[in-house]
This record gives sequence, structure tokens and C-alpha cells, in this order.
Amino acid sequence: MTEYDNIMLPSLREKEHEIATLPDDLMDQLKMVMQSSQQFQEMMMMYKCAIREVRTKAEVLNDEMSVRYHRNPISSITSRVKKPESITQKLLKKGLPFTVEAIMTNLSDVAGVRIICEFIDDIYTIAAMLAMQDDLKLIQIKDYIKYPKDNGYRSYHMIVEIPVFFSKGKTPMRVEIQIRTIAMDFWASLDHELKYKKDINPEDEEMIAAELLSCAERIAETDMIMQQIRMKLDAVEQHKKSTEIIIDE
Ligand code: GTP
Ligand code: MG
Repeated sequence: MTEYDNIMLPSLREKEHEIATLPDDLMDQLKMVMQSSQQFQEMMMMYKCAIREVRTKAEVLNDEMSVRYHRNPISSITSRVKKPESITQKLLKKGLPFTVEAIMTNLSDVAGVRIICEFIDDIYTIAAMLAMQDDLKLIQIKDYIKYPKDNGYRSYHMIVEIPVFFSKGKTPMRVEIQIRTIAMDFWASLDHELKYKKDINPEDEEMIAAELLSCAERIAETDMIMQQIRMKLDAVEQHKKSTEIIIDE
């Protein structure tokens, strides 16, 4: 089962980190306790609703821009709610109790939305447009495009708080938004596979990591060139429009 429910690019799905820190039987018991708890189920429902709100915001921006500029800045949106075992592992890692309150106050990535764009500029446009919406509170930004990770990972991360209206009232919910290009996403899914390959020998791992780093750099260069081509095409279009206006006059 994959965590990200990919609607357009099924081959580019990605799983969440899984670090084995508890014996399997204990993990299974904790997972069962969590899943059977009414409070936990309610919390998961609330995170799913928060995801829906963020997805709608992204879809609205995409629709608006596609009418205005005749192209879609967003190529696909995927989302996932963190699996109970991953939530358990994170609580354990942070030394937190297994309570809904601990999850809701301390974990920022239970709800995750991934927005895949064609061009780098679109990433920043979408991020800025989301950030300026006054019902959305920006908690954290990590720009791994300007400042890539040592392994070559590139992506724009935002943690936001979005109000969701339930029968009991308005509840602010945290959602992790990852915005990246198609190429960055392709790279991340392969890198993720390497991270969680358990039976790989250290030499092979090192070699693959070096190859991935070199790929990340070539991808970044390609993304940049694609962006420049996009801008040139836009300029041609713009020029055509302005000459048409002059002829009309
Ligand atoms: P986590 O505890 O893993 O959530 O990391 P963090 O709290 O330091 O946040 P960060 O923004 O660095 O990473 C959040 C998420 O981004 C991860 O859960 C992954 O989905 C993704 N991510 C971060 N680094 C990498 C990486 O090197 N490779 C891949 N494939 N994904 C990454
Ligand atoms: Mg995470």
C-alpha cells in the first residue's frame, strides 16, 4: 500500500520513512490500539479533511492560472495521511506519549500534500500564492531547492496550519506541503528506494548515492534550462500579442 494517493502519476508514488525501532509484535499491538481508538480515528478523519482543504486550494490556483495563462502550473497533486506505524515510530523517536494530543501538538507531517509542477518558477508562484491566503498560517518553510541537501535532494517544503470547520467548531490542523518539479520527484522516489533498501552492501550503497548525487545535479541543470526555454516561449507569445494589438489599432 502506498501512502501518497497519486491521481496522475501512479509510478511516482513515494512511501514515508520507516525506521524499525520496536519489535514487530509490539508495533502491531500499538497499531491495533491506535486504530481501534475512537479518538484516533476521529483525528485521522480530521487530517484527511485538512488535506482536502489544501488540495482544493492548490486546484483552485491551478484552474485560475490555466485560464489566465493557458497552461497548468501544477502537473499533479498527491496526498497521504501518515500510517499508524510511522506515527508510532515518530512518537517513539521524539520520546512522546502515544496520545492524540501529543500527535496533534508535536507532529507536523501526519497530513501530507505533494504538489508536482513542471517548472521551478511555478513552485515559487504556487508557494507564494498559498502563503498569502489569510486563512492559512505559515509555520515553517524549508527551501531545499535554494539549499539542496548534501545527497542532492531538492524540494520546497511548507508546514501550514489550516482551519477546518467541524460540528464542534473550527480546528487548526497542520499539513506538510512538498512542492517540487516532475524531475525532482522522479529523483526523490529513486533516492527513497535506496534509503530503505535493507540488504544492500555498503560499497554498492556508496556508489549508488554518488550516482544519485550526480543525477540530482544534472536534473537541476535540466530544470533550469527548461525554465529558460519556457520564458523564451512566453516572450515570443507576448511579442506576438503586442504586435497584434498594434495591427488592430
Ligand atoms: P522527517 O522527520 O523525516 O519528517 O524530517 P524533518 O522533520 O527534518 O523534515 P524535512 O522537511 O527535512 O523532511 C520531510 C520529508 O521530506 C520527509 O519525510 C521526506 O518525505 C522528504 N525528504 C526529506 N529529505 C529527503 C531525502 O533526502 N530524500 C527523499 N527521497 N525525501 C526526503
Ligand atoms: Mg516526515
